[in-house]
Amino acid sequence: PVVTPFTQCMPVPPVLAPTSTVGGVDAYTIEVRPADVEIVPGLRTPAYTYAGHFTGPTIRARAGRPATVAFTNRLTTPTNVHLHGGHVAPDSDGHPMDQLAPGAAKVYEYPNTQRAATLWYHDHTHALEADHVYRGLHGFYLIEDPAERRLGLPSGDFDVPVMLRNAELDATGAFVFGGHPDNRTVVMANGKAQPYFPVAPRKYRFRLLNAALKHVFRLSLGGAEMTKIGTDGGLLPAPVPLTEVSISSGERVEVVIDFARWAGRGPVHLYDGDNPIIRFDVAPGRVADPSRVPPTLRPLPPLGTPTVERTVTMSMDMSLRPPIALMNGRPYDPSRADVSVRRGTTEIWNVVNEDLDPAFPFDHPFHMHLMQFRVIGRDGGPPLPEDAGLKDTVYVGPRGSVRLQVTFDTPFTGEYLAHCHFLEHSALGMMLRMDVLP
Ligand code: C2O
Ligand code: CU
Repeated sequence: PVVTPFTQCMPVPPVLAPTSTVGGVDAYTIEVRPADVEIVPGLRTPAYTYAGHFTGPTIRARAGRPATVAFTNRLTTPTNVHLHGGHVAPDSDGHPMDQLAPGAAKVYEYPNTQRAATLWYHDHTHALEADHVYRGLHGFYLIEDPAERRLGLPSGDFDVPVMLRNAELDATGAFVFGGHPDNRTVVMANGKAQPYFPVAPRKYRFRLLNAALKHVFRLSLGGAEMTKIGTDGGLLPAPVPLTEVSISSGERVEVVIDFARWAGRGPVHLYDGDNPIIRFDVAPGRVADPSRVPPTLRPLPPLGTPTVERTVTMSMDMSLRPPIALMNGRPYDPSRADVSVRRGTTEIWNVVNEDLDPAFPFDHPFHMHLMQFRVIGRDGGPPLPEDAGLKDTVYVGPRGSVRLQVTFDTPFTGEYLAHCHFLEHSALGMMLRMDVLP
């Protein structure tokens, strides 16, 4: 369909209320069910949803206070749920083979023992994760804590999660899955194609998430400054002013944008490259803005001392139709532990993109479950400024490599994963089983 941009308002996903708070645990309930949604005005798109919402309801969890989420599968296909970026026990991690059959329910337990961060939940069903996430099984899970609240960053209505993704729709509005990624011409923010968003002339915190199956957003305000304050795992030590920020599938970037300078002027656009994807309509006048971006935000946890170093490779085997996708030379096999790590140890992983054929210059965002890591090198040199902060997903460019350091500081042992977050690649096998041993 031809999309006329900026004809619909960007919704903010509803915040889910707990059904019970007994015993200091916030208990939530979510039905995973089909629903028709309107991505492009006037077209009906059959989708898979969390509780009927395309961009599922946002869970706002509090650090130190556990949450449970009871998911019931009302789809006709199996599903499961992964809390991306979450520090959770293996049986609540959404293991690809740990599935809810149609009609089944499961209670996932989220301890919320990590620092404040922008996480998200999505389907992780073996080989079907790409199809299921594409059809709408994605939502925000935000952890808040007092240390962050004390900073005085924009909050409440001025703290806005924005899920960016794309899709290919046919003339009736139905999702086309499996087409070429270049055909995904509908770009959405919070489930609406190229929306507008009215803002007051003041500071806003935007929690940007790339939920596209396979896309790197190159975000800018057309040259104007924004302030990066956070990454996948929480706030940066200090704010970073910038005019452009890239975000690959699975990653989060938090920015503060001060619209006061455009009061009554505008509009202002958020671009992906040259393509305007959100139009901000800035109200005129002046408003009180008690929020601030302090010069220091939050120190990172100390880097441990690494005692293990390993190499992990990612590659596509294009000689087969369909191609298979490999990590360490093999497609994912749930019965085989590919990497075993010891709880409490610090490791260095050299994540290498082995796709060397210039005819297929694949890039791959690498994602590790359970822990947040630090990027300590890229492409044989030092890390880039944008590699700073706590990360669970990191872009590895064509022929590129990333060196990361991670401390398995966790009470949990068992089976986890590391994989490419271009979910079509993980669905084809670009995933490895990572066992955490005592
Ligand atoms: Cu966002 Cu293993 O996934
Ligand atoms: Cu990949």
